[in-house]
Amino acid sequence: MEQQKRYGHFDDQHREYVITDPQTPWPWINYLGNEDFFSLISNTAGGYSFYKDAKFRRITRYRYNNVPMDNGGRYFYIKDGETVWNPGWKPCKTPLDFYECRHGMSYTRITGRKNGVEASVLFFVPLKKWAEVQKLTLKNESQEVKQLKLFSFEEWCLWNAATDMENFQRNFSTGEVEIEGSTIYHKTEYRERRNHYAFYHVNAEIQGFDTDRETFVGLYNEFANPDAVMEGRPRNSHAHGWSPIASHYIEVTLQPGESKDFVFLLGYIENEQDEKFEAPQVINKKKAHDLIAGLDTTDKVDRAFDMLCAYWDALLNIYKVRTGNDKLDRMVNIWNQYQCMVTFNFSRSASFFESGVGRGMGFRDSNQDLVGFVHQIPPRARQRIIDIASTQFPDGGCYHQYQPLTKRGNNDIGGGFNDDPCWLIFGTVAYIKETGDFSILDEMVPFDNQPGSEVTLFEHLKISMDHVINNLGPHMLPLIGRADWNDCLNLNCFSWDPNESFQTTENVSEGTKAESLMIAGLFVVTGKDYVALCKKIGKTDEAARMQAAVDAMIEAVKKHGWDGEWYLRAYDFYGRKIGSNECDEAKIFIESQGWCTMAEIGAEDGLVAKSLDSCKKYLECEHGMVLNNPAFTKYIYEYGEISSYPEGYKENAGIFCHNNPWVIIGECLAGRGNDAWSHYAKILPSYVEEKYQTLHKVEPYVNCQMVAGKDAFRPGEGKNSWLTGTAAWMWYTVSEFILGIKPDYDGIRIDPCLPETAKTYTVQRKFREAEYEITIHPNGAQKGVKQIILDGQPIDGTVIPYSPGKHVVEATM
Ligand code: GLC
Ligand code: GLC
Repeated sequence: MEQQKRYGHFDDQHREYVITDPQTPWPWINYLGNEDFFSLISNTAGGYSFYKDAKFRRITRYRYNNVPMDNGGRYFYIKDGETVWNPGWKPCKTPLDFYECRHGMSYTRITGRKNGVEASVLFFVPLKKWAEVQKLTLKNESQEVKQLKLFSFEEWCLWNAATDMENFQRNFSTGEVEIEGSTIYHKTEYRERRNHYAFYHVNAEIQGFDTDRETFVGLYNEFANPDAVMEGRPRNSHAHGWSPIASHYIEVTLQPGESKDFVFLLGYIENEQDEKFEAPQVINKKKAHDLIAGLDTTDKVDRAFDMLCAYWDALLNIYKVRTGNDKLDRMVNIWNQYQCMVTFNFSRSASFFESGVGRGMGFRDSNQDLVGFVHQIPPRARQRIIDIASTQFPDGGCYHQYQPLTKRGNNDIGGGFNDDPCWLIFGTVAYIKETGDFSILDEMVPFDNQPGSEVTLFEHLKISMDHVINNLGPHMLPLIGRADWNDCLNLNCFSWDPNESFQTTENVSEGTKAESLMIAGLFVVTGKDYVALCKKIGKTDEAARMQAAVDAMIEAVKKHGWDGEWYLRAYDFYGRKIGSNECDEAKIFIESQGWCTMAEIGAEDGLVAKSLDSCKKYLECEHGMVLNNPAFTKYIYEYGEISSYPEGYKENAGIFCHNNPWVIIGECLAGRGNDAWSHYAKILPSYVEEKYQTLHKVEPYVNCQMVAGKDAFRPGEGKNSWLTGTAAWMWYTVSEFILGIKPDYDGIRIDPCLPETAKTYTVQRKFREAEYEITIHPNGAQKGVKQIILDGQPIDGTVIPYSPGKHVVEATM
């Protein structure tokens, strides 16, 4: 086995991951910003910023998949005599005497020391501000006076991140900047239709600057050795076209023991059309001045940082567990919740695996993501539900993706993914259970954002269910359409042309018999939720109508969806079985095991238990459960993209972490706590962190989308970190099914499912206007709450009836 070097460790008290070696096996990143202004930042300060939309409002430039990896970011160069170094090691890579990167909740602090000087930079986006703060503290820890030359560096992106990388015949002529005092303004295209610009400011007098990249760097140099820095002499360049940058030059004298703070500010401004200019060609800087004035001293910045920390305190105070197992507690209390919020904010748009130009927000993805943070900021979940539903079509189908800036459905990808509608129920039910806010069902929501087409959100839910019922195949199972949750099972695609997208190509679909057992299970789970919701709001006829449809689906699965040891995965275009013992490869798939066990289809006949056992037998390996087994070894024209991946990667028998929790929930519902826990711990980052930092490769504090499966070249290697539905599903699974604290319409249901080794634990849960302190005594049981004492009084059943105020709950299993 490869030697597992360690690159860092958790610091739970500060809610930080501390990276102690800059040469991590892959850049380990963090996200800054919570609402409008966002940044990605790696452990060596690489990354970029954008306003709201990573494609259309890119503020700084980034080059993906480059050599070397992760080049470009917000860099500080310190020239101390002949030595030039950076606090985050890159880009100069001068060996440091000390290096540390602390990724925390929406902030990152990078500290480097060299030759008696310490440089520490705190990066964060203050709440409600459209700016990234970079507070640099320089400290002379030596015995002599230090004369330092400090250069900052940011490279502007010409706004649209896609055309910025493509349309050079235009771009090289459009770049424009203005310089005023210590502020460098980037105003490309502001002269025409744009009403926004960006700036880079420092709260100190500067002794020079640069705004033209080639002048600063030198055409044949690199970020590691820019001419201006190496010579210690800024050029005071004005960019006209080519590639505008922003670099401040400051001469700093530090007495022994002395330290100085500099506040750098990367800001974004929008002006009204008729207030764009203060003089011909001169941009109106009023709002920039105001933004700067709010953050131009160490004090003001420290206060903004305290507010950000208080914000996270509050968010992480809503659900807190104490089990005595640090590895579990830190994921539940800190990192899993944090990842959920980041994933909600970014959907799948911007990471070191997503360029931010390719995709908008996914319909199904966003609905699942919101389950991960609805307890923290329900109003944002509410808005998101309305936005998502507004991209639906009158027949219940919907756009697969939409752009966050315009909120319009994405025509390039279109619709036809037949699982999509069901997820709207999943998201909405979670929102109502958390908040008790049934009024969302009466919101008027349009179709495809067309004014005048509005119907109630409830109506959207209804047509979502109907979309499944109206699209059944020959076995009375749901037609799959372009794909279900597995975007790569493309049963109506039939492509031999490598230039065709598997997601959007439907060469044949007329006469299709392709049906999905995953959607069948999803329909039963969300259908039961829908029925319960209808009953709750007095729509009994509708409840009965849907109950009948759910019952029929259950029958269809039992009759046509069971393979003997597990649930089938699908029927193909011609009506042949997929995911069956009869198949040569991919005999069993995880998705249908997850959803049909969550739906408890055929539990009474032992189907659920057999399916779960088969997952253990055929899918499980050291690093989690693979998606299918055995892996496809060749491309199958009838199946599409799933068979395009080499064995063990992505949807072809990778450990696609997102779907592991489905089986884990299936285990929990079946009361098999030992099995649920062992599956869960295998993909829980803190357990992986301890064992495999080198092998795992990507950030050890968050889940990644995919870990290479048992058939892969390097099983256990992670990819596509950070933005993944895994975050929300891990949260939903541990908070509601393992630890067993489940919001319900009338209160909180207590129903844990634990390994028999579990000890007494306590959950503090804020819920609407109430606060519960819930202590659970497992007594060696895996499942089954025997008694609940609420404020000293025993109650009937397992639901603590909601009432505002503070409550103490004791549950005995
Ligand atoms: C990606 C997509 C998600 C899809 C999954 C499986 O994570 O974002 O929508 O369900 O892959 O294909
Ligand atoms: C590719 C990926 C899949 C993703 C889809 C849509 O097919 O393998 O995971 O969901 O693209 O972006």
